[in-house]
Amino acid sequence: MIKVWHHFLCQGDAFPRKGVIEALADAGFDACPLDLDAPSGRGVLFFDEINARACDLLREVSRNGIERILAIAVSRSALALGNAWELLRAGASDVFAWDHFSDPAAEAAARFERWDEVDNLVRSPLVQKSLVGQSRAWIAALRQIVEVASFTSASVLLLGESGTGKEKAARLIHSLDNRAGKADFVVLDCTTIVQELSGSEFFGHEKGAFTGAVATRDGAFALADGGTLFLDEIGELPLPLQAELLRVVQEHTYKRVGSNLWRRADFRLICATNRDLLREIEQGRFRRDLYSRIASWPCKLPPLCERPEDILPLARHFIGELYDGDSVELDEPVRQYLLECRYPANVRDLKQLVARMVYRHVGPGPITLGDIPEEDRPSTESAFENWCDASFEQAVRLALAQGFGLKDIGRTAEETAERIAVDEENGNLQRAAQRLGVTDRALQIRRAARRKTRDS
Ligand SMILES: Nc1ncnc2c1ncn2[C@@H]1O[C@H](COP(=O)(O)OP(=O)(O)OP(=O)(O)O)[C@@H](O)[C@H]1O
Ligand SMILES: [Mg+2]
Repeated sequence: MIKVWHHFLCQGDAFPRKGVIEALADAGFDACPLDLDAPSGRGVLFFDEINARACDLLREVSRNGIERILAIAVSRSALALGNAWELLRAGASDVFAWDHFSDPAAEAAARFERWDEVDNLVRSPLVQKSLVGQSRAWIAALRQIVEVASFTSASVLLLGESGTGKEKAARLIHSLDNRAGKADFVVLDCTTIVQELSGSEFFGHEKGAFTGAVATRDGAFALADGGTLFLDEIGELPLPLQAELLRVVQEHTYKRVGSNLWRRADFRLICATNRDLLREIEQGRFRRDLYSRIASWPCKLPPLCERPEDILPLARHFIGELYDGDSVELDEPVRQYLLECRYPANVRDLKQLVARMVYRHVGPGPITLGDIPEEDRPSTESAFENWCDASFEQAVRLALAQGFGLKDIGRTAEETAERIAVDEENGNLQRAAQRLGVTDRALQIRRAARRKTRDS
């Protein structure tokens, strides 16, 4: 049984709601109406118009894309009239029109089943222990990683700033790969390849192929046969070496240096880089044909500044690792400090900072401000950027330029804060209210009032 809620954002009775609910039940759904006062869980939202009301509701019920919501248009024309991308941006996991398929309920069931498989894997200890994080941006990346790893054999291109976890993600993709009798995970760091020896590094060589080739040697592609080849920092590969890879990446065949025999290797290719490869292509530094071959499935890992909610869980995870599973608390000012720090090398910086604090820490109590090494301390109070930093000011400037006044700006800021707090507390209104500094009742009234204005 696929447990979901259903909700109809439709005018009139033209859409046969009863029949649709019956069709869902026949397809294996256990569907009950959405409780608008306490929306939770996965759901199917039927709509007859793509408008702000539908998007707002989607943002709320999907908790910005974390909860799986299928948005179904009552007809193809209802879908064609609006911009369906807006629904996906608001958090829908998929959108289609009910009359587009001969058996739309079965189509819906297939989607929820796949999402379930992906989300169960994302929640599995293997994934949770390897790649820590619960923020929306991180969950979105994890879903992609898990899906490409378990349901495809596609080449993956991992993009992201330094220290965002690209290598960890590559190793996880290999662990989740379902190939029977899977061989090893082989890493080749493209920054270390010397041009003259590149052929041998990639493809291996025959004995005597060149001075110093005293024995036959396998290259990276042969070593990765049956497994995964991870080409790290592929953006650093000089153009001539990029050319060398074209055939093997596409055809999976290669020749050893000094041999005329074509050999075959079956491998999943994962490449990683912190460069913007599309820009590199524009500037003639990366081959477009190689890009299209390695990027069957590009996946961008978000920087830490786009997922500040993950900072403290990551810090606790690293403390747990360093104390061999035991946990030591973080004092409140230290938590504040970690949240306000800048991390140019993302999770790597955070991990090293936490390690420096743990090395200094003594006693069974929490890690306190004094455990932060001198070099890591802010020189003055103002060294920390205020929460209302340049990007906040920019947003306000934009709002003013577009003619919005204090009332709109204030209301939007409040609504955003409310939405984030409810999101981060997984829909728990009591805890969200606490964080917002209002009573539960006040938060409930505000949400109800907003829903009313939206619906009127
Ligand atoms: N989500 C995460 N959960 C736990 N540890 C993480 C996570 N992301 C990164 N790390 C840790 O942070 C460090 C950097 O990660 P990794 O080497 O995978 O990053 P990278 O993107 O390959 O960096 P670079 O571009 O500098 O090579 C590693 O020690 C890794 O274990
Ligand atoms: Mg790396």
